[in-house]
Amino acid sequence: MAGSEKLILALDVDDSGYALQLVDKFRPYVGIFKVGLELFTAGGPSMVDEIRKRGGKVFLDLKFHDIPTTVAKAGVAAARMGVFMFNVHASGGLDMMKRCREDVVNTCLRENIDRPRILGVTVLTSMSREVLRDEVGIQHSLNTHVRHLSGLALKAGLDGVVASGREAAMIRGHCGRGFLIVTPGIRTSWTPVDDQMRTMTPREALREGADYLVMGRAILNQPDPIKAVELVSAEMLSA
Ligand code: C5P
Repeated sequence: MAGSEKLILALDVDDSGYALQLVDKFRPYVGIFKVGLELFTAGGPSMVDEIRKRGGKVFLDLKFHDIPTTVAKAGVAAARMGVFMFNVHASGGLDMMKRCREDVVNTCLRENIDRPRILGVTVLTSMSREVLRDEVGIQHSLNTHVRHLSGLALKAGLDGVVASGREAAMIRGHCGRGFLIVTPGIRTSWTPVDDQMRTMTPREALREGADYLVMGRAILNQPDPIKAVELVSAEMLSA
């Protein structure tokens, strides 16, 4: 995969017209666009359609977390929309992830649609060790928790996880080659960290074993976003 094929641009905006302008502008540089809670809630499923019509692939980042039946049905709906990738919270448990995968696989076979990759979200990159321990009540270390949730996602048959680059090498060791690691919380040396805690540069994250990098503000909030995406792609290619 070339550098820019590993880059996922996060369309974290609430205006569907503006989101599609971004797709048109970045499509020559980026193949996969992330539609998250903000844009999906504001723009609806037609956003996925419109991005696909423009030749982009969609990572539907809605982080499903509910009872197994509900998550499985949401997963099937995502597959029918034609997304390339979507995610569920690994902390929703083994049965939730398994049921989702099974229903998606069966539906895709029956209806002859491309099966989306399904990822488990481990621990959000905006969370620190202290928040996880003092607010969420997880007493073991952040690494141990990420390792545990990644193993659970693998056991459920998911294609990979969303995790910080700081945990990528550990996940690769635990879950093996071929298990996808999608890494947000990416910051270049010239951008602020915003609300992210466990950040890495594009080069560092790829070297640690990430397969795809998710980037939003470190590209979109730059004075010259196209220049930023070119610099990031060059850094990714050299990594
Ligand atoms: O702007 P920035 O590059 O920080 O955006 C990161 C994106 O990745 C956001 O859309 C956020 O929702 C998403 N994300 C994350 N941490 C996760 C999963 C997804 O930051 N664990």
